[in-house]
Order: sequence, then C-alpha cells, then structure tokens
Amino acid sequence: MAQQQRPIQSSFSPYPLSYSSISKRPISLLLLLVLFLLFGVFLPWTGSPFFPFPNRSSSSWRDYSLAQAAKFTAKDGTVIVCAVSYPFMPFLNNWLISVSRQKHQDKVLVIAEDYATLYKVNKKWPGHAVLIPPALDSRTAHNFGSPGFFDFTSRRPKHLLQILELGYNVMYNDVDMVWLQDPFQQLEGNHDAYFTDDRTKIKPLNHSHDLPPPDENGVTYICSCMIFLRPTNGAKLLMKTWIEELQAGSKAYEGNDQPAFNWALNKTAHQVDLYLLSQAAFPTGGLYFENETWVKETKGKHVIIHNNYIVGYYSKMKRFNEYGLWLVDDHALESPFGKLE
Ligand SMILES: *[C@@H]1O[C@H](CO)[C@@H](O)[C@H](O)[C@H]1NC(C)=O
Ligand SMILES: *[C@@H]1O[C@H](CO)[C@@H](O)[C@H](O)[C@H]1NC(C)=O
Ligand SMILES: *[C@@H]1O[C@H](CO)[C@@H](O)[C@H](O)[C@H]1NC(C)=O
Repeated sequence: MAQQQRPIQSSFSPYPLSYSSISKRPISLLLLLVLFLLFGVFLPWTGSPFFPFPNRSSSSWRDYSLAQAAKFTAKDGTVIVCAVSYPFMPFLNNWLISVSRQKHQDKVLVIAEDYATLYKVNKKWPGHAVLIPPALDSRTAHNFGSPGFFDFTSRRPKHLLQILELGYNVMYNDVDMVWLQDPFQQLEGNHDAYFTDDRTKIKPLNHSHDLPPPDENGVTYICSCMIFLRPTNGAKLLMKTWIEELQAGSKAYEGNDQPAFNWALNKTAHQVDLYLLSQAAFPTGGLYFENETWVKETKGKHVIIHNNYIVGYYSKMKRFNEYGLWLVDDHALESPFGKLE
C-alpha cells in the first residue's frame, strides 16, 4: 500500500531519484531545471505545491481505503461527501466550484461509482476520490431486483454509516446542487441529523425545525439529497434503519432511496435528535425554479440550490445555465480540477 503522507512542503518530493552525483556541475543544475519544467508540464500535479501521494500510479488508487481517504480529507472532524459516476463529472465540477467559493473544498471526498471517476478525480486532485466496491457497471446498473442491485441501492446509507463509524461528521450532497452561502452556518445546535424538505408548499420563515407531520397520504418528503450527520448513536441508528427499510422494500423503491429514508426518519423520530433545515435556505428545485415571487421575497436567504423537480441531464444543465448557476464554462479556474478535458 502506498503511503498516506501529509502534504510535503518540497516540490522535489515526487521524484525520489538522486541527482547528487551530477548536481555539482552548473550544467547539471540547468538540466535539472529543464527536467523539472518538463515534469511540471506533463505530470498531473501542476498548480499545486503539495504532493501528498508521490508514488501512486493511476490503478493503485484501487487500494485506497475509505478510512485513508476520510483521514486525508477530513478537516475539523468533518468530511463533505458526494457520490458520482463518470457522466456526472461536469456536475461534480460545477458543485465543487461553488463549494470552493465557500472555502470548504479541502474537505470534499468524492465517492466514485466507477473506476473511470476514481482515476480521473485522483489524477486531477490526488486523494479526493475513493471507490467502495462494488463499482457500478452496466450489469449492476440495470439488474433491478438482483442481490447485487440491493447492495448498490443501499450504498448511500451504508457509506454514510461507515464514515460515522470512523468518527467523522459527514455532510452528504447530491452534485446537482450549487452552494450560494456556507451551509455549515445553518447547522444550529448539536442535533444528530440535519435535512431538508422536498415539498414545494411554501412555509412561513419561522417554520418548525421538527420532522414535519406526514401529509394526507401518510408520508413525508424529506430529501435524501442533502444530509448532515454527527457521529452519534442517533445518527448511526438512523442510517441502520434506512438500510433495513431499503432491504425490506428493495423492489418497491426501484433504485430510489428517498422513501426508505423517510420511513427511517418516521421510525426513529423518538430516539434520534432530528433537525429540519430552513426552507428559505435550502429550497427544493420545485420551489426555487418555479416561483419567482417567492425567490424575490426570500432574497439573500438561499444557501444551497438543488436542481431537482426536472428530468434529464441536459435539462438540468440548461436550467442551471439560465439561472447563472452553471459555473464550469466561465469559472473553471476556481475548481480544484482546473478545466476538465
Ligand atoms: C411564527 O410566527 C407567527 C407570527 O409571528 C406565529 O404566530 C407563529 O406561532 C410562529 N411559528 C413558530 C413555529 O414559531
Ligand atoms: C409516522 O408515520 C405514521 C403513518 O403515516 C404517522 O401516523 C406518524 O405520526 C408518523 N410519526 C412521526 C413521528 O412522524
Ligand atoms: C409563489 O410565492 C408567493 C410568495 O411567497 C406565494 O404567495 C404564491 O402562492 C406562490 N405561488 C405558487 C404557485 O405556489
């Protein structure tokens, strides 16, 4: 296993060759300089003075464990997590630019759903992606109802539980989101789990932070898209119950883990300290993109925008574009990836 080093302050560290025998002559120093310029151009670490993973080749990231990755990315005991498959790299980059603007990008850990994503992210930004097997392949992706498929659907609560078991706070985000302000400022108190309501019905600004009551159909619509958890017994119980709910209803849910999350909240509400975040700060896309009057009324209060209540990859991209929230074309340099080719 390659070593998990903290950043090293020397730009020489990635090249373990010894030049001592030739460096006595000035001409060799020049040669050395040329070599470094060349390496600087051809190696993926350009732009960063830190080389935390000097010896990793692309495929060696296969052995990079969640424990190592969480340790590397956690700051102040917190990891920001998303899960991404290769086609969603542009959305990941867009979200990441917005996270960088709030100066929280160093805590980001990308859970790569396939090896292409694992290698690509770690090439551009070493140490910030991990793959927790099984990887997504076309077979698991399409084989609804198979045991392999259950493993895949329940991956979100499983991964979050693993990070909690390692002792970190975890902020989970879908990547069709854009941060406008720092969401950590909104995590009032010391509750186990923080989440947002996916309902479009407008609530008063001073709405309750309790789990909302079920609607006339007996269900709640808490979003599984953004969740903050502390490494407490309560948060762990919530994740375990979510996994059980998915296991019990794996066919009915057909790859959507949100109803099971809502049942888990319902079942654990008396044992877990839950906190519903403000609607004005974390509006569902069905409200933010549909009601201009409301957006004007709540101006300055929006913290994370979620591009949901719309179907299709290009429709999402187009809508972000129309609202000035597609940042990857004009602001690529603000991303830790730089420009994605
Ligand atoms: C919100 O404010 C209104 C009007 O000031 C008040 O009647 C209501 O009880 C408040 N609701 C909560 C949940 O505090
Ligand atoms: C859980 O769901 C049931 C059925 O909809 C409902 O009667 C009950 O009030 C819910 N409990 C909580 C804590 O929301
Ligand atoms: C849009 O928002 C305004 C202001 O909050 C509200 O009065 C109105 O009912 C909303 N419209 C719809 C269709 O929900």
